[in-house]
Amino acid sequence: MLRNHEAEAIRDRIRDATDIVDLVSEHVQLARRGRNFLGLCPFHEEKTPSFNVNPDRQFYHCFGCGVGGDVFKFIQEIDRVTFVEAVKFLAERAGIALPERSGPSREETEAADELYRANDLAQKYFHHLLLKDDVGTSARTYLQTRRLTDETIAHFGLGYAPPEWDALLKVGGRRGLSPQILERAGLALPRSKGSGHYDRFRDRIAFPIANLSNRTIAFGARTLQADQQPKYLNSPETPIYHKGRVLYGLADTRDAIRRRDAALVVEGYMDLISLAQAGIRHVVATSGTALTEDHGRLLARYARQVVLLFDGDAAGSTAAMRACEALLGTGLDARVVSLPAEHDPDSFVQEHGPDALLKRAENAQSVLDFYLKQLAQQHDLSSIEGKARAAEKLKPLLAKPRDAVRRDLLLREVAERLSVDEQSLRHDLQTALRRPQQSRKAVAEPSPIAAPDPPRHELEFIGLLLNFPQLIPQTTREFAHDSLSDARTQALCRALFNRHAHGKAINLGTIISELQNDELARLVAQCAAQGFDEEQVERQWRDYLLYFQKNALQRRIANARQALAGASDESEIAHISAELVALNQERQAVVAQQSP
Ligand code: GTP
Ligand code: MN
Repeated sequence: MLRNHEAEAIRDRIRDATDIVDLVSEHVQLARRGRNFLGLCPFHEEKTPSFNVNPDRQFYHCFGCGVGGDVFKFIQEIDRVTFVEAVKFLAERAGIALPERSGPSREETEAADELYRANDLAQKYFHHLLLKDDVGTSARTYLQTRRLTDETIAHFGLGYAPPEWDALLKVGGRRGLSPQILERAGLALPRSKGSGHYDRFRDRIAFPIANLSNRTIAFGARTLQADQQPKYLNSPETPIYHKGRVLYGLADTRDAIRRRDAALVVEGYMDLISLAQAGIRHVVATSGTALTEDHGRLLARYARQVVLLFDGDAAGSTAAMRACEALLGTGLDARVVSLPAEHDPDSFVQEHGPDALLKRAENAQSVLDFYLKQLAQQHDLSSIEGKARAAEKLKPLLAKPRDAVRRDLLLREVAERLSVDEQSLRHDLQTALRRPQQSRKAVAEPSPIAAPDPPRHELEFIGLLLNFPQLIPQTTREFAHDSLSDARTQALCRALFNRHAHGKAINLGTIISELQNDELARLVAQCAAQGFDEEQVERQWRDYLLYFQKNALQRRIANARQALAGASDESEIAHISAELVALNQERQAVVAQQSP
C-alpha cells in the first residue's frame, strides 16, 4: 500500500493537472458567467441552468440539487465509479503514472510514460545547452537578434539541439532511454544504411510543444541558417502527439483565453512567443498544420470568439480560408484579421506594438466579409460569370455550419451580398452536397462543444420587441437589459434600446447589417421569426418582464449564497446575509405579480 501522504501528493498532482472546466465540458455544455461557468446539471432534471463550475477553485456545485465537489468527485458521480477508479481514470487522462498500477492499460501507460520521459529529457537537455553551454552561443545570439528576452526563453523552455548526429541518443542512453524509445518519441531516426539511429533535430532552435497537462510531447525546430530548408522540422505524429488536436501554447494561454472569451490564432511559434512577450497572452499557434475542426472544438471549450491572425501574403490568406471552413463547423464566432502583406504577427507587433494589433483584432472581419474580399480580388463580382465563379468557391463554406438555421442564414446572406437568386444558389448547393463528400460527412463525428443558444424565452422576448416596437418605450422604462441572462440577447436588447433612444426605426435588415456579427444576426432572424398572438401581446410582454426579473434576482441570490460560502470575515458575512434577505423579499414580490 502507498503511504498516506504519498497518495495524497499524487492526488494533488492529478487534481492540479486536470482542468475542471475541460473535464465537465466533456459532459455538460457550459457557458461562461463572469468568472464561472454555468450549464444544465447532469445530476438532476432541470430546464434552467444551475450547475456552476468554478475554474479558480476547481470545484463544481449545483444550486438546484446541491451536489458539488472536485474533479474526482465529478468522475465518481458521473461515471458511477469508486474513488480509486476515478483517480486511475484522471491520472491516465493527465498522463501521470500511478505507482502500483494494475489492469490492462499498464503497458500502454508505461509506453506513453517512456515517450513523455524522452521528450522531457530532450527539452531539459536542449534548454540547458541553449542557456549554459558554449555550443549554444550561436543560437543565443540568433534569439537575441529576434529580440527574445531571457525571461521569454525560459518561460517557453526554448532550447538548442546541437549539431552532432547522436548527442541526444547518448544522453538518452545514459538515462535508460533506448534508441528505439527515442525513435518512437520522434526524436531519433533509424539510419537508412546499416544499423543504428541518429538524432532528428540537429543544429536547430527547439520549441517544445506541451499538452494540456503541460508535459512536452513534441518539438518544432527552426534552423539558424537563413536559407536552409526546411526552415522548420517538426516532430512526427506519435502515440502522445496528434498534430490535429494540439495547439501550441494552449496549456499556458488558456486562462487568458478564458478571461478574454476570445483566442487569437497565429501560424508560427515565433508569432505566439513574440505576442506573449508584448503582453498579448490569449493566443495559440497551429504550428505547421492546417487548423482542424478538432482544434476549433478545443478552442470552443475556452472561448466563444476566435480571431485568425494570418500572414498578409497569399499563403496566409489561403490558410485563413481553410481555417474559416474548419471553424464554421464548430459554432464559434470566427473572425479574420488580414495583416499588411509584408508582415506576420511577430513583425507587426514588433513594429507597431501590441495595442495596434489588439485594435486590429477588435475590428476583425467576419468570415463571410473576408471570403468575399478575397474572391473580389480574383473575380469581377459585378459580372454574371464572376458571380457564378465566386458562388462556386463559396460552396464549401456554405455547407459547413452543422445546423440548418445557420446554413440557411449564411446562404441567404451570400445570395444577398452577391445579388444572386437565393433559390438557385440553394438548389446548386443541394446538388453539390449530394455528391461523394456527403458520404464523408455521414460518418458520425463527435458533436461540437459550442456555446449553447441563449434561453428560448429571451429570444422570444427580443422577437416580441422586434415585431411590436411600440412596446419598446415602456420596456426601456421598466426593464434593464442585463436582467437577461445571456450576453448575446443582452447585446440585442441594448441595440434595440439604442435605436429607439436615437429615434431610429426598428428595421430588421438594418439591425442585422449593423450587428457585424454572424452569430447575433442569426439569432435576430430567429427571434423575429417567432409567431405571436396579437391579442395577448401586452400580457405576454408583462409575463416575460416578470420572468426575467425573477431569474435575474435568482442569479443574484445564487451569487450571494456563493459569496457567503466563501466569506470568512464576520462583517462581510453579516452584510451578505442582509443582502440575501432583501433579494429574497424582492423575488417574492415579483413572484406575487406573475400570472398563474
Ligand atoms: P520565423 O521565420 O522564425 O519568424 O518563424 P515563423 O513562425 O514566422 O515561420 P513561418 O511564418 O514561415 O511559418 C509558420 C509556421 O509554419 C512555423 O512556425 C512552422 O510551424 C511551420 N513551418 C514553417 N516552415 C516550415 C517548414 O519548412 N516545414 C514544416 N514542417 N513546417 C514549417
Ligand atoms: Mn515570422
